[in-house]
Amino acid sequence: MSVSVVLQRVGELLEGPHWDEKSQCLYFIDIKTPVVHQWNRTTDEHKKVMLQNVKTVTSVVGRKQGGLAVTVDQEYATLDFESGELKSLAKVDRHNPETRMNDGKCDAMGRYWAGTMGPEKVPTKVEPELGTLYSLDKDCNVICHLSKIGISNGMAWSSDNRTMYYIDTVTKQVDAFDFDLEGGRISNRRSIFKVPENKGYADGMCIDEEGKLWIALYFGTSVVRVDPQTGDILKLLELPVSCPTSCCFGGPDYDELYITSTHQYFTEEQLQQEPLAGSVFKVTNLGVKGVPPHNFEG
Ligand code: BGC
Ligand code: CA
Repeated sequence: MSVSVVLQRVGELLEGPHWDEKSQCLYFIDIKTPVVHQWNRTTDEHKKVMLQNVKTVTSVVGRKQGGLAVTVDQEYATLDFESGELKSLAKVDRHNPETRMNDGKCDAMGRYWAGTMGPEKVPTKVEPELGTLYSLDKDCNVICHLSKIGISNGMAWSSDNRTMYYIDTVTKQVDAFDFDLEGGRISNRRSIFKVPENKGYADGMCIDEEGKLWIALYFGTSVVRVDPQTGDILKLLELPVSCPTSCCFGGPDYDELYITSTHQYFTEEQLQQEPLAGSVFKVTNLGVKGVPPHNFEG
């Protein structure tokens, strides 16, 4: 196993890595700048677009018809990466102007799931229970699935699509739901993993072809591979940064793990101590492959 730096300190709060199979590009976002990044694995070219008239961009996914969809502020939108043009698809959280979108990902039917969070004073210390988990279907219908969330974060689905995994960061755990793929509904919430003491908070995650979860531990200096059946940590990737934020598999064979990280709220001293905070990493020789991500049907 080896960890390398793909892009060194290219942002502040890098998040939401998404692999685009067709172009062999990694997309990720810098939430508060707000910038969408594209890194081409074949040419090593790095491009970015700064979004106008929004405060945040919090996730990015591909669209089946081509192009990208994103979550920004309190909205789902399409994004033309070349021009930076956003077109609104739907609004959420109309009841509370203080919240914002956070992590998002598509299920196997191409619905775009994303959740919100309340105002955050310092990382993980958020006004409680203001978040909601939504999904957006191809006809732009928004469904609300859960409320009273702290910080809506990582999601993943089992390959048989019978289970959805979900992280509310403030709970310091990962939950599972029974997933109804046809109906796009979740039920029977239970906890399947608790973050060990002193290992920080669960943030973004992805799943591998053996059904094991890879979870970025914010303040935990690591990404862990967890067995959702037993709750055991099977592997711990020690990283050169204290705050990894999320991870996804990519590469021609989906055997490379890409990890984003942050230096938000760091002091000058911390910025110097952790020169790699705000970088994107690649981990190879893991001995297991990931599964391709799903794209948005709309
Ligand atoms: C949020 C950040 C938050 C971090 C840790 C991220 O997903 O976007 O605002 O500080 O999780 O909770
Ligand atoms: Ca996140």
